[in-house]
Amino acid sequence: MTSFAAWARAAQERTEAALARCLPAAAIAPQRLHEAMRYAALGGGKRVRPMLAYAAGEAVEAPAGRVEAAACAVELIHVYSLTHDDLPAMDDDDLRRGKPTCHVQYDEATALLVGDALQGLAFEVLAEPGLHPDPAVQLEMLHLLARAAGSRGMCGGQAVDLAATGRRLELAELEFMHIHKTGALIRASVLLGALAAGALAPEARERLEHYAKCVGLAFQVMDDVLDAEASTATLGKTAGKDAAQGKATYLTLMPAREARAYAQELVEDALGAATGFGERGGRLADIARFIVQRSY
Ligand code: IPE
Ligand code: IPE
Ligand code: MG
Ligand code: MG
Ligand code: MG
Repeated sequence: MTSFAAWARAAQERTEAALARCLPAAAIAPQRLHEAMRYAALGGGKRVRPMLAYAAGEAVEAPAGRVEAAACAVELIHVYSLTHDDLPAMDDDDLRRGKPTCHVQYDEATALLVGDALQGLAFEVLAEPGLHPDPAVQLEMLHLLARAAGSRGMCGGQAVDLAATGRRLELAELEFMHIHKTGALIRASVLLGALAAGALAPEARERLEHYAKCVGLAFQVMDDVLDAEASTATLGKTAGKDAAQGKATYLTLMPAREARAYAQELVEDALGAATGFGERGGRLADIARFIVQRSY
């Protein structure tokens, strides 16, 4: 079996190539918007969400071509969320994936449109006629992504994040925020990758739901820890911003050591769920481990 590092690199390369194909060429009008969309989406990022889609697809033996569309769609929503998250009206960041943020490189209006257009493109990719032989499953995939991106998913979490800035949240509120702003799209990545195979058996769905819930929360807990502990050079985004901006994070409620231990506990739980798929769940387990061990 190939190492996780080699598997992850292949998934990243595949995602990069698929995104490069589905994003309009920079030469097509409006050139500046298309160039900015490609600037934001290509050439960076860990591609964790596409990897989760591929790994979940492997767990239920989904055809790779169809999983690729799911991987692209979730990454496009993610890049849109990052582009807007970095705007002055939100986190006001000037560095993302090791380069100037979209609004710094272009301008704020362009960055808004980049996010809007990437969101539209995500749904265009997933709505591709004939993508899935069962139209009911394809509709379920679209419904799932729409819900994950909206006010009861990522956008809702971002709203709580902004409202909580400068305030102390209790643990349950913090968990609600994390599960929405980051967990919702991670859950969609896992379920869409698996749905590419077809309707899911109830036990498989339950295992995937449990895996995704644990991994989604652990991912944002580690994002909070790394913001405080890692360097700007390693992260490719400005370190120490959460404390400087008074963001509600796990580190406002517990020391980093405890937050890491909590993330580790969640990942152990996720590993238990991945085991249910036997060997086919191996990559889901690898990604869960990577999420707590990562340095960026
Ligand atoms: C950062 O996500 C924002 C969160 C939702 C925590 P990632 O850490 O996955 O960012 P990239 O895609 O690798 O740049
Ligand atoms: C961002 O959370 C979550 C989304 C973009 C939905 P953060 O604000 O913590 O992400 P970073 O740290 O800027 O990547
Ligand atoms: Mg934010
Ligand atoms: Mg941010
Ligand atoms: Mg962060």
